[in-house]
Amino acid sequence: MNREELVAAARTAAQNAYSPYSHFRVGAVVVSSDGKTFTGANIENAAYPSSNCAEATAIHTAVAAGVRKIDTLAVACIDAREVQGSYPCGRCRQIMSEFGVETVVVAAGQGSETRVHTLDELLPFRFTL
Ligand code: THU
Repeated sequence: MNREELVAAARTAAQNAYSPYSHFRVGAVVVSSDGKTFTGANIENAAYPSSNCAEATAIHTAVAAGVRKIDTLAVACIDAREVQGSYPCGRCRQIMSEFGVETVVVAAGQGSETRVHTLDELLPFRFTL
């Protein structure tokens, strides 16, 4: 999948968001180092801290299928007005770090603007063991 296709897949994944509390739908797609793709959406909970972000859902779905290295993650916040502010949260950045994400593509709303970052930009000086 090229970047446009990844963003389209992330937008589609957002349709399955379970977000009755925030009404803020997010979708994500990850590409493993062997070229497989896995999608995820945010899944909220009445006990708010028990919610899960789209990025974490997608990454953990890939890992549960045996993936250990992820090259690219695309995220789409389809209910956000603009890309600014539609960035992965800190917890998701740390989860990306664990599985070697290199490139992060961010999209928002229905506009075509996307931003591309390295994880090094988004999470410099990160924790590892
Ligand atoms: N959310 C994500 O899924 N990914 C992000 O990068 C930021 C926020 C979700 C969590 C919650 O369900 C909703 O968006 C509002 O915060």
